This record gives sequence, structure tokens and C-alpha cells, in this order.
Amino acid sequence: MSRLVFVLNGPNLNLLGKRQPHIYGYETLADIEAECRRVGAELGLDIRFHQSNAEHQIIDWIHEARETAAGIVINPAAYTHTSVAILDALSTCEFPIIEVHISNVHKRESFRHHSYVSLVASGVIAGFGTQGYPLALQRLAKLTADKA
Ligand code: DQA
Repeated sequence: MSRLVFVLNGPNLNLLGKRQPHIYGYETLADIEAECRRVGAELGLDIRFHQSNAEHQIIDWIHEARETAAGIVINPAAYTHTSVAILDALSTCEFPIIEVHISNVHKRESFRHHSYVSLVASGVIAGFGTQGYPLALQRLAKLTADKA
């Protein structure tokens, strides 16, 4: 039976490919989604892939995931550093959460060094480019299989 995993993306990630490519590269969010679906299928994961610029929408997807999913991969983008509301929503989930950042946030401005989401993440991937997403799915597949 395949396990449902939500892959959630925060603000401005819809502009990947065009947005500061020296930091985020040239791959688009559609490229990342296709790779997540390909790797997800290999791992037996059913992928729900979403992006929003709105905090409340991300929170609503987390609420949906907590009822239906086996885990979450989340790149909260700038909300990583600001959103207690997203932290609180993730805190209600009883499954593993993997936090992903395309860039190495620790090499950047100091306000990016703090993450609210890390308080509830099983693991954090930063600076692996878009490859961080399939790596996160691999880890989630392992964590959820160990639990099953
Ligand atoms: C990001 C890093 C955040 O600091 C930034 O606000 C983003 C993207 C990343 O994937 O590297 O929008 O989460």
C-alpha cells in the first residue's frame, strides 16, 4: 500500500528558475514536482505537491495532511524564519516532518539561520539544491517504513 506524503512549498518558490538563479538554480517548481513524483513512485509514496504564497493555505494543507498523510516534506521558504503559526500547525502532526531548503541558509544572512520549523523537524536538508527534495523523500520513506 502506498503511503501519502505532502510536499509543501512556501512563498516565492513558484518563481524558481527565474528567481535569483545564482542562489536557487534554474530548475522550476514543475521540475521539482516531476522529480518528486518520479522518486515517490519508486519509493511507494503517493505525492501531494503544493505551493502557496499564503500562510493560511499552507496551514490548511498541514491540517489536511495530519488527518491523511504519513509524513510531510516542507520548504516553508521565508515562513521558516517567521511563522509560529506554521510551527504550531506542524506541532499537531504525529508523523515525521523533513524540512528542506534549496540554498545553504547557514551561509546566508543571519536572519535565515533561525528556523521555527526545525523545532519539530525530524531532519533538515539545506544547501543540496533541488536534490534536497528527493533526498527528503528517501528519508521519509525510511522513517515511515520503520514505523509501519
Ligand atoms: C529557502 C531559504 C529561505 O531563507 C528563503 O526565504 C526562501 C527559500 C531555500 O529553499 O533555500 O524563500 O527556503
